[in-house]
Amino acid sequence: MHEKELETTIKHLAVPGKGILAADESPKTAGKRLASINTESTAETRRQYRQMVLAAKDMEKYISGVILHEETLNQKTNDGVFFPKHLELKGIVPGIKVDEGLAHFNNTDEECTNGLETLPLRLKEHKKHGCKFAKWRAVYKISSSTPTKEIIKRNSEDLAKYAKACQEEGIVPMVEPEVLIDGEHSIDDSERVTHDVLKELFSALKKEKVNLKYTILKSSMVISGKQAKDRAGVEEVAKRTLKVLKATVPSDIPSINFLSGGQTPQEATAHLDAMHKLDKNLPWYVSFSYARALQEPALKAWQGKDENMHKAQSAFVHRAKLNSLATQGKYSSSME
Ligand code: 13P
Repeated sequence: MHEKELETTIKHLAVPGKGILAADESPKTAGKRLASINTESTAETRRQYRQMVLAAKDMEKYISGVILHEETLNQKTNDGVFFPKHLELKGIVPGIKVDEGLAHFNNTDEECTNGLETLPLRLKEHKKHGCKFAKWRAVYKISSSTPTKEIIKRNSEDLAKYAKACQEEGIVPMVEPEVLIDGEHSIDDSERVTHDVLKELFSALKKEKVNLKYTILKSSMVISGKQAKDRAGVEEVAKRTLKVLKATVPSDIPSINFLSGGQTPQEATAHLDAMHKLDKNLPWYVSFSYARALQEPALKAWQGKDENMHKAQSAFVHRAKLNSLATQGKYSSSME
């Protein structure tokens, strides 16, 4: 294993007051985001979207790493610099999404994640582009019959195999088991499922001999379903999330970075902040790795127009700053 390399990457990612930006939307998902501002999705408009976010002045004060999509690796900033190089020059660690999306699991409606077969080869290529960490996402839908034990086992084993392959290449794995917010489920359901999913994941990582010291957990929060009737409040989400993490995540894990998963930007920030207000002595660094909750306000301000670029970039950096404050328990909604 490339211990030194992995250790350095962790040191640069898990920085107090900073978090990770997920800018790794597939062309299809980026297309949805662009459609929301009536902008056609082409390779060039997607490049402009990345430019808007990644060239924002001062983002490096709050962002330690960025997860990119493969398409972005070969695209350049307006100044003609490849995006991974551009990030590196700002002191931000470039990362890459390496899963290849979802597939039906055993002809059911549950989903597993594609991409393991070609992974070792792709990791070598991504490393040449400067990527130092890699994300793999598994998803779980809560319903009366899901997730099943079988899918939890399968996804955990795949996450462990991918994590092992990354470490063998000197790349830090960012394992992402996402329990989806969609549905009417209660926070109790979310707590039970998140607990089971994380328990199984860490047992699979152990079996595969993945070194947890060089692994980042990208987790969802324990939260009521988006369509649930009585959704739990901020304090409750923070309390339940920490309860599950403490019961399942070994303290060897250096950093837990949450996804936003369909929470509003304000909710995602408030929840993270409440966790830090609740407990000043967490065994891991706890931060963010949001995509939507960091980029949505910027996207709205931008509207795909050059003349709005500055305003959009300020909106992005403002959001990053509020989340930075949340990692220190210093956010307040009056700062919105
Ligand atoms: P959201 O924060 O929009 O959920 O995205 C995070 C992510 O990387 C999902 O894979």
